[in-house]
Amino acid sequence: MIKPDAVQRGLIGEIVSRLEKKGLKIVAMKMLNVSRELAEKHYAEHREKPFFESLVSYITSAPVVAMVVEGKNAVKVVRTLVGATNPQEALPGTIRGDFGMDIGRNVIHASDSLESAEREISLFFKPEEIVEYNRIDEDWLYE
Ligand code: RTP
Ligand code: MG
Repeated sequence: MIKPDAVQRGLIGEIVSRLEKKGLKIVAMKMLNVSRELAEKHYAEHREKPFFESLVSYITSAPVVAMVVEGKNAVKVVRTLVGATNPQEALPGTIRGDFGMDIGRNVIHASDSLESAEREISLFFKPEEIVEYNRIDEDWLYE
């Protein structure tokens, strides 16, 4: 999910482009305003954390772009492209490392496991919104 700060800062194209050029296949994408209810479900694991309220208010503050991407080891690959949670610690070359300054404005969310990916996808997309297709370069991306 491209978070509100990145949308406001004009980074949608840059971020989508990085995922796309890496070879990840975008199979669903939409812009939406996240409701408080959806934000609380999405970040349910953090409900008891001191930063929960500010996290929910951040994520509901302006539109986001939600995406589903596919690829070999996609969860791991995306987390690596995204970088460490705190943009001040994220390495240059990562999305957070290149575009963020503050842990509470860290540009992008990425699912941290296959299980959380499945859970989060079902919060944001109906099954029929996920598109099946082949990319023409698949034979050259994978051995
Ligand atoms: P995300 O879920 O957004 O992809 O981020 P993450 O896995 O790298 O980090 P996570 O521990 O799941 O934290 C979720 C989001 O909460 C905010 N946060 N603030 N102030 C703080 O100490 C703090 N810690 C986390 C960040 O926006 C983080 O992305
Ligand atoms: Mg997380």
